[in-house]
Amino acid sequence: MKDYTPVMSFGDEVAREYRHLRRGDENSAVEFLGRLAGRGPALELAVGTGRIALPLAARGIRVDGVDISPAMVAQLRATPGGEAISVTIGDFADVPVPGTFRLIYVVWNTLFNLLTQDDQVRCFKNVAEHLTDDGVFAVEAYVPAFLHRLRNDQYAEAEAVLVDEVRLDVLRHDMATQMIEESHVSLSAAGVRLNPVVQRYAWPCELDLMARIAGLRLKQRWGGWKQEPFDSTSGTHVSVYGR
Ligand SMILES: C[S@@+](CC[C@H](N)C(=O)[O-])C[C@H]1O[C@@H](n2cnc3c(N)ncnc32)[C@H](O)[C@@H]1O
Repeated sequence: MKDYTPVMSFGDEVAREYRHLRRGDENSAVEFLGRLAGRGPALELAVGTGRIALPLAARGIRVDGVDISPAMVAQLRATPGGEAISVTIGDFADVPVPGTFRLIYVVWNTLFNLLTQDDQVRCFKNVAEHLTDDGVFAVEAYVPAFLHRLRNDQYAEAEAVLVDEVRLDVLRHDMATQMIEESHVSLSAAGVRLNPVVQRYAWPCELDLMARIAGLRLKQRWGGWKQEPFDSTSGTHVSVYGR
């Protein structure tokens, strides 16, 4: 997508909506991550508005964050408990924070917001350098199998059809580059609003190799936060890497 930069996807309007967005599996995610973190500290890459970091910190674990979007971090700061999370504004591929962590994690497919394989590999390497000896890196991401079922490598889906607004999700896939270009489009009397997002996806096995390059190994892989088995029907995976 020409002229796209990731921070475009997370401006003020999205950040305001995001602050209240819940997927419904947050308790299981926090339960799982809390067990991995032990006494901490933990670091969330792409912490956003704190959907996961805030309830994790509420369990008494120190949680730091990295995010590229000042708008998302402003919403985190405006939420009770947000002031306790130390956030560095920057690119999470760099892991631009001092110290080491018992747990570093990146959720909701956000590893794929790093748009090149090099950036994703760099992320794994930097994460490895910021883990304690017994520390782990947890990644939650989709399994790209659904892309094989697309017709002509694209789709347009009606997300909402209301009397005063239509919301569409429009997506194109390029298998050669492993890129997904997507836009959430709102049509209403107020005009047309676009929310573009681009991702470079990877299969779980590619992530495992990135981990190996960084000196880490796959320790656990689940089909979800409730430790569902990972198998050929899994749409998502929760993978845990360590030394
Ligand atoms: C889908 S949101 C997820 C936020 C949070 N992790 C959650 O689960 O609610 C993606 C977040 O990634 C951040 N982001 C995207 N690319 C980034 C990058 N290269 N470095 C740091 N943050 C990035 C965005 O600003 C946004 O806050």
